[in-house]
Amino acid sequence: MKLRHSVAAIALIAACGIARADDKPTVDLTKTTVPDVDKLPDDEHGALVRYGRDLVVRTDAFIGPEVANPAMRFTGTNMTCQNCHLGAGTAPYAAPLTGVSAVYPQFMPRFDAIYSVSDRVNACMQRSMAGTALPLESREMKAFVAYIDFLSEGIPKGADRIGSMLKAFKEPARPVDLAHGETVFKETCAVCHGEDGLGKRRGSVGDARGYEFPPLWGPDASSEGASSFRLLTVMQFVSSNMPLGVTWQKPQLTVDEAYDVAAFLVSHPKQPRKGPQLNDFPHPLDKPVDFPFGPYADHFTEAQHKYGPYGPIREEVAALKAAAAAAKAGVGTAPAAK
Ligand code: HEC
Ligand code: HEC
Repeated sequence: MKLRHSVAAIALIAACGIARADDKPTVDLTKTTVPDVDKLPDDEHGALVRYGRDLVVRTDAFIGPEVANPAMRFTGTNMTCQNCHLGAGTAPYAAPLTGVSAVYPQFMPRFDAIYSVSDRVNACMQRSMAGTALPLESREMKAFVAYIDFLSEGIPKGADRIGSMLKAFKEPARPVDLAHGETVFKETCAVCHGEDGLGKRRGSVGDARGYEFPPLWGPDASSEGASSFRLLTVMQFVSSNMPLGVTWQKPQLTVDEAYDVAAFLVSHPKQPRKGPQLNDFPHPLDKPVDFPFGPYADHFTEAQHKYGPYGPIREEVAALKAAAAAAKAGVGTAPAAK
């Protein structure tokens, strides 16, 4: 718990009788300048931080499935962290790594556990990168953490980060239109990601040179257990960041286009879930509405969770959560799920 309340603020909270969070520091990542790794001195720490940056930008070249040393093959795709964490993990609303050290360790319902920064890196290693966890004592994990710590310097512990994660907005209240999504894909995305969506390699298969344009699905893409296989996550990512060059301030796609193209993307298989991914969200009520794998606390099908519409799901989940909270508080009895 933070001890940052001023005496006056405590008095105010007591007078109002409500918990106020206005003592919480806030940083606006859309306005802060990102520190420059290349200005770090040429010492051990500087080298480690720069290695962390390089790992984010060219993951495939260091720990990808095609690197020469089999003992260094940790990711299950030739993609890079930067493929999603744009700008070496510094772009606002592209799940920036900036300030991550200020908000971990934190409890994560997805894993039903308290996660540190390195645990969180390994969560993306095992899901987004379809790979295996890095040993905590490895130079690679130390470098990821050193880089993330560097990007978090000066950001107060527990701060609210404006510009973190993805920019949320309300999706259309209708079923998705996959045919429209395909049209958007062909007209706007295929030029870089390929007509087949499999991306464009720099060289050829096996040469560990990775992708110029990453795959959106298929056997060398991310895995189905990653958030990037959830329709609303993809919709939000794409809206603020794609086609490459747009920003969250000036999206190119309309809300309808982003919704439908996201549906078209997730309608294609990626690498199957395996290992720890199968245990994500052990409590069904914690599942995000667009989590495409049951069992669920509500009565909706996997297909509706995958493709929407989400309004009716949100309503039922809210009612179930309220009932569960009431039951826990011992007031009234929880109504049976529909
Ligand atoms: C396919 C896309 C994708 C790739 C590739 C990817 N990530 Fe992520 N990552 C995400 C998304 C999306 C989130 C946002 C949280 C969520 O919904 O899971 C995230 C969240 C994170 C977070 C927590 C951020 C926060 O603000 O809490 C960290 C740390 C992270 N990723 C590290 C990595 C590292 C390191 C790599 C490479 C080894 C990587 N990610 C590769 C998509 C990706
Ligand atoms: C001008 C080329 C270009 C266009 C057009 C483009 N992208 Fe991308 N896209 C990229 C590049 C490059 C990356 C990786 C960014 C990086 O590594 O810095 C990327 C990353 C992605 C990612 C995250 C990584 C992955 O492979 O899952 C998704 C999802 C994505 N693009 C979807 C789309 C969609 C949908 C469209 C069309 C609306 C689109 N892109 C149009 C170049 C493009």
